[in-house]
Amino acid sequence: MQGLEGIKVPVHTSNQVCSIHGIHMVYSDRFPTPFCEKCQQEELAKTKKQFDRANTEKIARNDLKRLSLVDNHSEYKHTFDNFEAQDGTKEWQMKGAARQLAGKYYQEPHLNMNVIMYGTPGEGKTHLAMAMLNAVNQYSTPPQKCIFINITSLFLAIRNSFDNPMEKWTEKYAVRTLSNADLLVIDDLGSESAMNTSKGEASQFVQRILYQVTNKQHRIIVTTNLTMDELRQTYNPKLVSRLLAGSKGSQLDFSGIKDKRY
Ligand SMILES: Nc1ncnc2c1ncn2[C@@H]1O[C@H](COP(=O)(O)OP(=O)(O)O)[C@@H](O)[C@H]1O
Ligand SMILES: [Mg+2]
Ligand SMILES: [Zn+2]
Repeated sequence: MQGLEGIKVPVHTSNQVCSIHGIHMVYSDRFPTPFCEKCQQEELAKTKKQFDRANTEKIARNDLKRLSLVDNHSEYKHTFDNFEAQDGTKEWQMKGAARQLAGKYYQEPHLNMNVIMYGTPGEGKTHLAMAMLNAVNQYSTPPQKCIFINITSLFLAIRNSFDNPMEKWTEKYAVRTLSNADLLVIDDLGSESAMNTSKGEASQFVQRILYQVTNKQHRIIVTTNLTMDELRQTYNPKLVSRLLAGSKGSQLDFSGIKDKRY
């Protein structure tokens, strides 16, 4: 008698017949309760499939940390749970709005919607953007590929790729990775413009990347310390309109919140 893993297991044929497969059940000295070998095989195949699916999902959910570029690794810990907000305050308003928008991304995986979170430093924009991404990443089934890109980190990585062949973040890799995400955070848009050593050139390759990405990617959460007018002065106006497109009703103004950094 051929066992499931190819091991010979001595079994005896029972009088009982499987009601599903219509074949005689078997039993052995170690397992005296008769069972159907076909049923057992199917059960095993089902368990294996569930295991494979769970594994695939786990790998997909790990893409967030595998593919993202954060300013600081502690930012992965930002969630709605650890965002403090007293009822009725501006923090509370922003948290509620961010939660609702995250719910939309979660419920409608193909919804084209950009979110702009703007204000001044330390107001919790990055925290809430990561909280939204973490929530969608954790709960979406099937998983949505969620990627967080701090724009200054991207700028530095790509600049590094110009003369370091080991750097994986080339312009081409960035365009592909950012375009293929199901949900993308672009954190601190405009911050890299302050790092221009040779003015123009730096923002040029970032702009070139963002221009190509926004051609295809319509689910972007942007955080920025620039005003909408400053954004238009910093970037190609056409790029800014693309980023703002589909953000009606999803532009969150954080101004008025006290700086949380000390
Ligand atoms: N309401 C909040 N509850 C808990 N931590 C907060 C809150 N707002 C901001 N922080 C923390 O303060 C720091 C600065 O916030 P951050 O989200 O980076 O601000 P911004 O992106 O607007 O400059 C982060 O460490 C963040 O986790
Ligand atoms: Mg920030
Ligand atoms: Zn059976």
